[in-house]
Amino acid sequence: MAKVRWHVITSVDGFIAAPGDDMRWIFEVFGESATVDHVIETTGAIVMGRRTYEVEDRDRPGIYGGAWNGPYFVVTHTVPTSIPPWMTGTFVTTGIEDAVTRAKAAAGDSYVGLLGGNMAQQCLAAGHLDELVVQIAPVLLGDGIRFFDMPGVAKIKLEKRSVRESGKLTDLHFNVLK
Ligand SMILES: NC(=O)c1ccc[n+]([C@@H]2O[C@H](COP(=O)([O-])OP(=O)(O)OC[C@H]3O[C@@H](n4cnc5c(N)ncnc54)[C@H](OP(=O)(O)O)[C@@H]3O)[C@@H](O)[C@H]2O)c1
Repeated sequence: MAKVRWHVITSVDGFIAAPGDDMRWIFEVFGESATVDHVIETTGAIVMGRRTYEVEDRDRPGIYGGAWNGPYFVVTHTVPTSIPPWMTGTFVTTGIEDAVTRAKAAAGDSYVGLLGGNMAQQCLAAGHLDELVVQIAPVLLGDGIRFFDMPGVAKIKLEKRSVRESGKLTDLHFNVLK
């Protein structure tokens, strides 16, 4: 059964997107990371929210800027009326549980990747998240979308798997203890 992994790149001060969903700072550090390459190779299906999908569409069309191909599921309440040609995924309006179930079936023995903080938080709350790959980019953004923002959540314990450098990024790999 596929495991669920959140791959995220964060600034040193804990933001996953700059104000206005600006992701250009990531593209500057992204290309030289063996860990990014490994994540791309071992991800069999992806679940993301509509906002992440819209940023993928705006900034650099395609998933991982077009470097990843496979089945993916975009969770939303409303399917957009205009869909770009690169969008080969499936919009899911039946919630996160359904999206994860469908992604696990599609991923086979590879990972289900989560993109964006909101999906990861919902999956954590539902007990679906197995692993975190957190890559720290050498930048301070000062403002934007926080890496993790769940006030009142019960403590979630993690188990360290590895700490590595890959290109300009510093990588932390954890298991989620359940
Ligand atoms: N640094 C990184 O590694 C990284 C990676 C990926 C994304 N990002 C950035 O992170 C930001 C993503 O923001 P986010 O995580 O707050 O948003 P998100 O999960 O990408 O999107 C939120 C939207 O997803 C839909 N949604 C979420 N849960 C739902 C549910 N249970 N049922 C139905 N629809 C649901 C809703 O869309 P509707 O309003 O259409 O219903 C909601 O407004 C973006 O700026 C993105 O560029 C960063």
